[in-house]
Amino acid sequence: NSRRGFETMEEQNRPSVDIENTNDRADEERNKLPIPPLLEDKNPEEGKAEFDLNVQYGKKEFIEGKEAETLGYNGDYLGPIIRVNKGDDVKINVNNTLDEQTTVHWHGLEVPGEMDGGPHQVVEPDTTWEPYFTIDQPAATLWYHPHLLHKTGEQVYKGLAGLFYIEDEKSKALDLPKEHGVNDIPLVVQDKRFTQDGQIPYDLGMRDVMDGFKGDTILVNGAISPELDVKSEVVRLRLLNGSNARSYDFNFSDNRAFHQIASDGGFLKNSIEMQEVSLAPAERAEILVDFREYSAGDQVVLRDGDYEVMRINIVEEAQQSSGIPEELVDIVPYDRDDVVITREFVMSGMGPMVAINGKQMDMDRIDETLNLNELEEWVVTNESAGMGMMSGETPHPLHVHGVQFQVIERNGGEPPLNEQGWKDTVMVESGEEVRLLAKFNKKGLFMYHCHILEHEDSGMMGQFLVE
Ligand code: C2O
Ligand code: CU
Ligand code: CU
Repeated sequence: NSRRGFETMEEQNRPSVDIENTNDRADEERNKLPIPPLLEDKNPEEGKAEFDLNVQYGKKEFIEGKEAETLGYNGDYLGPIIRVNKGDDVKINVNNTLDEQTTVHWHGLEVPGEMDGGPHQVVEPDTTWEPYFTIDQPAATLWYHPHLLHKTGEQVYKGLAGLFYIEDEKSKALDLPKEHGVNDIPLVVQDKRFTQDGQIPYDLGMRDVMDGFKGDTILVNGAISPELDVKSEVVRLRLLNGSNARSYDFNFSDNRAFHQIASDGGFLKNSIEMQEVSLAPAERAEILVDFREYSAGDQVVLRDGDYEVMRINIVEEAQQSSGIPEELVDIVPYDRDDVVITREFVMSGMGPMVAINGKQMDMDRIDETLNLNELEEWVVTNESAGMGMMSGETPHPLHVHGVQFQVIERNGGEPPLNEQGWKDTVMVESGEEVRLLAKFNKKGLFMYHCHILEHEDSGMMGQFLVE
């Protein structure tokens, strides 16, 4: 069962009037799904890549005629897609045009600590940070976003987030949809709370500090009620849960099956047929949806539970289509006998008191010291107390920087198939225990934290040094 069982809380948080509004929206009120562009690589040399990212203020009409104050990378809201190849030497020029500090973290990338863009790599206003690194991991859909201490939630919510694609020989050779924006579609899913005049203020109430900031309207790539036109072919959706706190249970209106082909850190071993995929904040899934049996004029709805997230219109018969490969890549499972050290991470507390191993984030404290290239077993538990009538229980998606890990156990049993690939974020519900194996191959100082951004900002984060 892939549902993670906090629907009651979700439903309480989502006024039913908004669900009605979205689902009843007339066709002319729908917005064409915006497709984030691929960022231009300024270095023509093979094996090298250089990108410019401007962190800037923006204005965006999420709602027609109403302009919201936003943040964006190279634009008003969200950012372009950075696409690189495995093995590339990459340099990125992050130019902060804001009058406040920020950082840019490469979520899921395995790079040395000082290039990671965590809370220590502050980019001051009117300065440029120039990280460089070599892409040393397989094809994957990763992302980037700010990581400023106590400010991550606000900056991400205002619009700072973008996708980061890695391609490799395998991803190029597999029979998969590869045409960006045509049959290979980036989907950054977020939720927002709009004021009457269409603004998206980040004002935290008590409830938001407790459960994280959740909106009542779901956006894809910054659009409300989006629709996507496709041909009758196999279509690849690269889903990112880019929300501060909301988890999603993605499914389709006709309960049609689809195939998941990738998790956070890249392709799964085999494609997995499923009808629903759950994503906690920061998690990604690539799925293939087969529209080959459909005809022009047909329509399918991507949903979260029964909330309509995006309409997909089949507008044209395809002349050809990719297939749905069954075997994808080799994933060599780590051998538990090779584990050198086992560490425990207990997530606990509520609201402003959320903590890991009883401690809150301290920039001057190193919580764990690890050896390079040693296999570690991490035992992650969620001992947060339930909040009774108020909001049920507190889920905590744990994210670890600088590594892709393997989940080996969930509550004493085998994890679901789609958690058996490379992961950098793993949902841990109240009372759950998750075990994972990780080998860190980059040196430096890194973070682990809950990816509910309000929990992270409250201090639910620790630091580890790899040496
Ligand atoms: Cu996506 Cu430490 O973050
Ligand atoms: Cu990260
Ligand atoms: Cu949390």
